[in-house]
Amino acid sequence: MVDEQAIGAAKEHFGTVVREQLERVERLKNEPDWVNYSSVSPIIIGMLGGDGIGPMISNETQKVLEHLLRDDVSSGKIDFRVLDGLTIENRAEKMQSIPDDVLVEIKKCHVTLKGPTHTPEQGDGWPNIESANVRMRKELDLFANVRPVRIPAEGIDWTFFRENTEDLYAVGSQGLNVTGDLAVDFRVITSQGSRRIIDAAFAHAKRTGKSKVTIVTKANVVKTTDGKFLDIAREVSENYPGIDWDGWYIDIMTAKLLDTKRRNEFEVLALPNLYGDILTDEAAELQGGVGTAGSANIGKVYAMFEAIHGSAPRMVQENRDQYADPSSLLRAGAMMLEHIGYEDLGAKLHKAIDICGQYERKIVTTGRNTGATGEEFGQYIMDTVVDSKIEERWQEYVDTIG
Ligand code: IPM
Ligand code: MG
Repeated sequence: MVDEQAIGAAKEHFGTVVREQLERVERLKNEPDWVNYSSVSPIIIGMLGGDGIGPMISNETQKVLEHLLRDDVSSGKIDFRVLDGLTIENRAEKMQSIPDDVLVEIKKCHVTLKGPTHTPEQGDGWPNIESANVRMRKELDLFANVRPVRIPAEGIDWTFFRENTEDLYAVGSQGLNVTGDLAVDFRVITSQGSRRIIDAAFAHAKRTGKSKVTIVTKANVVKTTDGKFLDIAREVSENYPGIDWDGWYIDIMTAKLLDTKRRNEFEVLALPNLYGDILTDEAAELQGGVGTAGSANIGKVYAMFEAIHGSAPRMVQENRDQYADPSSLLRAGAMMLEHIGYEDLGAKLHKAIDICGQYERKIVTTGRNTGATGEEFGQYIMDTVVDSKIEERWQEYVDTIG
């Protein structure tokens, strides 16, 4: 017997979800303009340590950023703030993915640099509250998750534009157990949400002299939502006559990132949230591991920069958290510098991370006591950043790539 009462309750729940999303669409139609950081003073940078390996890698990153920005810190143009309270203990105690008082402080900052935060899942001992990342992305409308992966020696220079507020993540905590046997989640894709991420990808391609944008979906099977994403890509591409685009399915795209004959042909990729989550971990692994990859979460008003990986509870349990690689957050720091108008300092930090992590490798982290500690590696980056010969070291690296 079909449970009619369960169907009634499900309809009601679905109605609520749809209503909230339609209200969101209305808000998206009236989006504010992009912040212009050159007219903002001071620019407030919030440091959120997070959980597990977070505070350590955050600390290493802050040291380097404070050094690079020292003049503007002392003149008062840059204001660093350390924000406490985004720990799993505090979130569990308050039963809030971002406690209200922490959110108030976050919203006072123009940009934040965030260490990884533990994301509870059913049965892991913590209350199963929504992910702090997902909440922050939605709350601050950080719709563009920009994830670069570079392997210069192979000619790989990918930039992923992962949509960050929709798809299965939009209402990932509002799924429904219709009965004890039937669980349903909802996938949300909007025209406005798709357009702004796809447009950001094309605009990036144009700005950086790239020739192609690749759209990744599974539109042959997931016809309605991925179909819309692809339709919008067709529309947006009309505004960028100089830039080619092509569409790939997520399964074959995952394979093609491993195809050494073809993978360096991809340049800028735009994709819905979950595909982007998965594909960018794969891409980061090719670059040297998720510990090497930084990520920007960009909205028109706020921006948050973070590592692409989690808080590494296994490293903490096995007592090897001090050996974590801080490169991911340093990379995110370099992206932050570029975003707030310090392109030269950002480029310098990117170079230092490339020199130390991909070329000289005089100090290497392995994630365990066979390698350097995160602090030692952080110092290596700092020494490279302050070295007056950094450009020569970079040129040597470029020469070896040929
Ligand atoms: C990421 C992470 C997050 C995500 C988790 C921690 C919620 O995997 O930033 O890629 O799924 O987006
Ligand atoms: Mg991920």
